[in-house]
Order: sequence, then structure tokens, then C-alpha cells
Amino acid sequence: MKKQLLFISLAALMQSCGGGATEQKTEQAVDPSSLYDRPQPKNNDEKGIGKFTDVQLAEMLDHAKATNGEKVYDVKCQACHKLTDEKLVGPGWAGVTTRRKPEWILNFITNVDEMLSRDPVAMAQLEECLVRMPNQQLTDDDAFSVLEFMRKNDGVK
Ligand code: HEC
Repeated sequence: MKKQLLFISLAALMQSCGGGATEQKTEQAVDPSSLYDRPQPKNNDEKGIGKFTDVQLAEMLDHAKATNGEKVYDVKCQACHKLTDEKLVGPGWAGVTTRRKPEWILNFITNVDEMLSRDPVAMAQLEECLVRMPNQQLTDDDAFSVLEFMRKNDGVK
């Protein structure tokens, strides 16, 4: 009985609300196989639910957009998201552009209520974070700018 309790609390610890950060944090884990106790949603090939179905991004960064995106971040996102992989209220943004498709990110940030109710990846994250990300009323322009800022944060030049 005691053993089982310990097992459960370890598994809960490892399920941090941080998307990509999960793997790194498993180092302290005693039994890595417990990671597979819960179904892991596939993260990388989901496009989410919303109007963005096919987004082609330039290889190079659009610096003007990224600068604009940073302003949006400062006002509307910073309270809950760090730029590292550390969780605040929501997951840190480091690596977000590699663990999610651009369509998924754009759909999530412009259609957050529907995504949190119906998209399996978003729903799984909500289950871990326990806070529903509020609709930030982004225009499409803002959304693309924030995405560009995320790409800059992930090292796109
Ligand atoms: C009140 C806190 C809060 C604010 C403000 C907020 N978010 Fe979130 N965000 C969250 C939470 C919590 C999650 C995880 C999903 C959930 O639980 O709703 C999340 C998830 C995300 C994700 C998915 C991350 C991943 O790793 O898959 C993206 C992208 C995102 N937010 C973008 C934004 C953007 C862009 C803004 C600003 C325009 C913003 N968020 C503002 C709380 C917030």
C-alpha cells in the first residue's frame, strides 16, 4: 500500500505542466516506466482546431514581427509564461515551436476556448496545468507576431 502511494506521487511529479520539460525532469525519477502509465498525447503533428490549416513559415525570422510579438508577450502573456522551459502558470515557451506545429499554436492562441474543450493535446495540458488559459483576444496579426517572437526565442535567426 505504502509502495503504491509513493509510486503515484512520483508519477504526478513527473507530469509537470511543461510540455517539453517533462523529459528533462525525469532524471530524478526512480522508475522511468511509470511515465507510460498515462496515455501521452502525440504532440508534434497535431494542427489543432481552428481556421489555421496550412501555414508556411519563412526559414528566416521576420524581425519586425518578432519585435511586435515581444510587445504583445510583455502585455498579455508574460504573467503566465516564461521564456525558459520553466512552468509559471502555463508552460515555459522554450522549445514550443518545435513541440507544436505553427498551425496548432495559432489555433490555440486565437481559439483557446474551443481548443481547451476539444483538442486532445490542449486538454491534456489543461489537466496538468489546472488553469484554463483565458482568451487573450489576439488579432491574427498579433498571433503571427507572437509566433515569430516564439521562433526568435527558439533560436531562429
Ligand atoms: C492567466 C494565465 C495565462 C495567460 C495570461 C496566457 N496563458 Fe498561455 N497558457 C496558460 C496555461 C495554464 C496553459 C496550459 C493550457 C491550460 O491549462 O489552459 C497555456 C498554454 C499556452 C500554450 C501552449 C504551450 C505548449 O507548450 O503547448 C501557448 C502556445 C500559449 N499558452 C500561448 C499564450 C499566449 C500567446 C499568450 C498571450 C497572448 C498567453 N498564452 C497568455 C496560461 C496563460
